[in-house]
Amino acid sequence: MLESGLGAEVLGLQVADVDDGTFPALYAAFLAHELLLFRDQTLPPAAQVAFARRFGEVQVHVMDQYHANAHPELYTLSNLDEKGQPTGKHPDRGTMIWHTDGSWRRTTGHATMLYAEQIPSSGGETSFADMYSAHDALDPAERAPLARLRAVHSLDFSRTRRHGDDPLTAAQRAAVPPVDHPIIRTHPETGRKCVFLGDHAESIVGMDYDEGRRFIEALNERIIRLARTYTHRWRPREFIVWDNRCLLHKAGGYDTAREPRVIRRCTVIGEVPA
Ligand SMILES: [Fe+2]
Repeated sequence: MLESGLGAEVLGLQVADVDDGTFPALYAAFLAHELLLFRDQTLPPAAQVAFARRFGEVQVHVMDQYHANAHPELYTLSNLDEKGQPTGKHPDRGTMIWHTDGSWRRTTGHATMLYAEQIPSSGGETSFADMYSAHDALDPAERAPLARLRAVHSLDFSRTRRHGDDPLTAAQRAAVPPVDHPIIRTHPETGRKCVFLGDHAESIVGMDYDEGRRFIEALNERIIRLARTYTHRWRPREFIVWDNRCLLHKAGGYDTAREPRVIRRCTVIGEVPA
């Protein structure tokens, strides 16, 4: 069990060795703990994709500039240039705000998996916030009206807001029109209720746009204060898989001009939130 009771470390197992015999227990632990950490992993790209496929269909991201060579399912977050030198540019500043992966799609993220190739000497951590606990900490009188609201999620909105110098192309934008999801969802496998919001949420269905913006900002701030959280300080060769349906996450800043950070990510597509 990691700090604040969120997540668990799996000992004595190489992810690359997981087979049909070991996967069911691992998946049960994933549902129970929401986040699993594996240290000292030898995990080539193909093995990471093979492990992800055990969870379901692996997403090929609309922003193809991030695709890892020969593995379109992997999305490399790196601040290095072709010569391996730090560029001073953060690869995706949108990841530094609390969000859940793929909430801008109709079928949203099931699990995300990160493998740490290179890690800065300080900063660059990943933080997680448990949305079951945020839901359970809300006043019951507040939950009922919230459960009737739907938020519109848009990658174009969040990308332009956080990364205005590198917006989506017209073709990318056309591929990901805004979608709406319930603010309180029921986890499809555990049956528990959790809050589902984060930085891709732009507006509230049936509410004035500006009023919806204020509502989302205030609720996003509040659910983080209410939630159990865990901040992971990476070491190279660590691997984390987490449940996007009940966790928000964000990346911490680091010295992008002097320190390398290379993380290999893949996301498994889940279901339509309900
Ligand atoms: Fe993310």
